[in-house]
Amino acid sequence: MENLNQKIGNAAVIGLGYVGLPLALLAAQKGWRVVGIDNDPVKIGKLLARESPFLDKKVDEDLKTSSLEPTTDFKKVSDMDVIVICVPTPVTESHLPNLGPVRLSAKSIAPYIKPGQLIVLESTVNPGVCEEFILPILEEGSGMKAGKDFYLAHSPERINPGDDKWNVENTPRVVGSLEERGLEKALAFYRSILTSEIKAMKSLKEAEAVKVVENSFRDVNIAFVNELAMSFSHLGIDVVNVIEGASTKPFSFLPHYPGCGVGGHCIPVDPYYLIDHAQKNGFNHEFLKLAREINNYMPAFTVKLVIEALREKGFDPKKSVVAVLGLSYKADIDDTRESPAFEIIDCLREDGISVNTYDPFVVRLSTHTSLKDALEGAQAAVLATAHSEFKAMTPEDFKKHEIEIVVDGRNVFSKEEFIKAGIIYKGIGR
Ligand SMILES: NC(=O)c1ccc[n+]([C@@H]2O[C@H](COP(=O)([O-])OP(=O)(O)OC[C@H]3O[C@@H](n4cnc5c(N)ncnc54)[C@H](O)[C@@H]3O)[C@@H](O)[C@H]2O)c1
Repeated sequence: MENLNQKIGNAAVIGLGYVGLPLALLAAQKGWRVVGIDNDPVKIGKLLARESPFLDKKVDEDLKTSSLEPTTDFKKVSDMDVIVICVPTPVTESHLPNLGPVRLSAKSIAPYIKPGQLIVLESTVNPGVCEEFILPILEEGSGMKAGKDFYLAHSPERINPGDDKWNVENTPRVVGSLEERGLEKALAFYRSILTSEIKAMKSLKEAEAVKVVENSFRDVNIAFVNELAMSFSHLGIDVVNVIEGASTKPFSFLPHYPGCGVGGHCIPVDPYYLIDHAQKNGFNHEFLKLAREINNYMPAFTVKLVIEALREKGFDPKKSVVAVLGLSYKADIDDTRESPAFEIIDCLREDGISVNTYDPFVVRLSTHTSLKDALEGAQAAVLATAHSEFKAMTPEDFKKHEIEIVVDGRNVFSKEEFIKAGIIYKGIGR
């Protein structure tokens, strides 16, 4: 990446996680002086030692040469031109938006903001959060007026961890702001660091809505194919073959694939922000709620397949051992947030089944430190994450550990080869 070696402005990034850290490193490489602020001192300690807090080859490499200044000191925002907030937006146990980190970050910067600064929220939120939630906190804490003294914008991040093609620099963006000047400033900031198209939205609310719509779109489409998978398993139809058949239509069909559950900090979380906000404003998102229910049910459906197969083979589930392969929410990364693997493990244990777990990227949470050890003594295996190490497995790799049942939660194995090898194979809808 090009290093301009000449500071074009001062920027602070608040929250140095999967979203904030790559952005901070990119801005630093593009010539900004970047201060990275996080309220986790352990994370800041790692970053000061130039160690990535999560698994990411590019972040690892970039950190070594980056001029990024990590700190826990919020006062540093006072001499910044741009302040970008990238803190988490999780949901509570009862699936309600938890804006606690957003509130805290806004409160932490408010006393130090100065006239003329641009504050951008990148965290995913429902329409209205910038204007109705963040703006009053910033105005109250600073004694200044948004749109007059400082500027407020929103540009939801779309980063897709583990994606080799689309990254923070080349993924198109949308930007919305409270007023024209803020929009110009935000567009100028992103144009200085990104190579992608940047679309100006008409308002903060529209920009906020874009991101929840994108992720809800994915959630409902996945729920649709998950529902088909459950239906077709009664009809003896392989849903993956059907989706591939439907994909030959060159228009008006977009393939999505079923699986043992939807994970990560975005898809299973963001729709709840819209559901809750709409509810408070008098609208009931029945469709989005149903999609969430269907996708939340998939780990239990997967366990049902395991139990059926154990019984089919004459095993007593309560005396059986099942190996769950994969804990992260998607392939070849170490992020376990909202991962369906944990729900699968809990459901298996609730049914009295002993569970071995192994994830090469998340060994710290695995019961076993190698694939071989996790398979040893198990009668069945569930593939919960399509890590490359697991995808490369053949029926023989299972047979040598006397595994008789494979439940392929990610539909990555060749059903025919497993059946030919005498293994009971169950995919999701195949
Ligand atoms: N992870 C993704 O793939 C992804 C993609 C697009 C958008 N998003 C959105 O971006 C936002 C951030 O997600 P993430 O995955 O980077 O989260 P993360 O948990 O990886 O990182 C957030 C960071 O913010 C820090 N933090 C929390 N509260 C803080 C505070 N009050 N002040 C300062 N720092 C604070 C945490 O210590 C952490 O380091 C969320 O809204 C998420 O929905 C995430």
